[in-house]
Amino acid sequence: MSGTEEAPPGVDVSVPSAARLYDYYLGGQLNYAADRAAGAEVNEKVPEIRDVAWSNRGFLQRAVRWVSEQGVNQFIDIGAGLPTQNNTHQVARAARPDARVVYVDHDPIVQIHANALLEGDDQTTVLLRDMRDAEAVLDDPATRALIDFSKPVAVLLVAVTHFLPDDEDPWGLVARYVSRLVPGSYLVLSAGTQDFQPDWRVEAVREVYSRTPTGVHTRTRAQFERYLEGLEIVPPYEGAKAEVTYVGFWGAEDTEEADSDGSRWSYCAVARVPGEES
Ligand SMILES: C[S@@+](CC[C@H](N)C(=O)[O-])C[C@H]1O[C@@H](n2cnc3c(N)ncnc32)[C@H](O)[C@@H]1O
Repeated sequence: MSGTEEAPPGVDVSVPSAARLYDYYLGGQLNYAADRAAGAEVNEKVPEIRDVAWSNRGFLQRAVRWVSEQGVNQFIDIGAGLPTQNNTHQVARAARPDARVVYVDHDPIVQIHANALLEGDDQTTVLLRDMRDAEAVLDDPATRALIDFSKPVAVLLVAVTHFLPDDEDPWGLVARYVSRLVPGSYLVLSAGTQDFQPDWRVEAVREVYSRTPTGVHTRTRAQFERYLEGLEIVPPYEGAKAEVTYVGFWGAEDTEEADSDGSRWSYCAVARVPGEES
């Protein structure tokens, strides 16, 4: 953290973490020397890294607003991270003042920060949990207290599945979350891709993240599309085909302006659980 650099209990600040690196890219204050050194290395190879993070945040915010406008007022935001403003509950409540949000992250610093941010708000909660245990997340008493699974729910997995290697089956994990959702629910998904990048840049990012507890695993478009099997992809902007796109394009009014080098590091989609709402 800028200033004291004193580590909160349970937080190992001697190695960089995905949550604190992301905070660094977004210009936040919740990062430490090891994060800033690693972030600077990424920045050297990928000078658009701040745009990578901000394009992804923009997608999350536009998608949450859109899903709220469809009438959904329950959100489970998995791998929520540390953003300080325009978080899921704030964006959702602009359209649905009754919105309820469960934030989930495995990094203790997220919980410390989120608890401070959410103090006194009994319609939000933050779970310190590993998303790989989907059942523990979904069945946690704090989740059950806020989320009614007989009604539509939006599950957000934004910029987080790329922290799981193939052999941990991130596709199966997404399906376990989706299997609990009734028709009319939504999956909001984004993840890093190598498709638009020369190999050396992707390798440079992988090398830095190999020093974090999670590593990073970018994926091709076909691999990203596998997450969405059985779901109805929403057209990402007016006049577009219902398909996967880069994060900048989703909900964009001007697609030319929305296209940026940072945006092209991440695919995204919003997809509906098919069937009649009861
Ligand atoms: C790049 S940030 C994304 C934050 C937010 N979703 C967004 O898109 O703005 C990824 C977050 O996922 C969290 N994360 C990574 N692996 C996780 C896991 N196995 N379980 C829970 N959270 C995880 C990290 O701690 C980090 O806060």
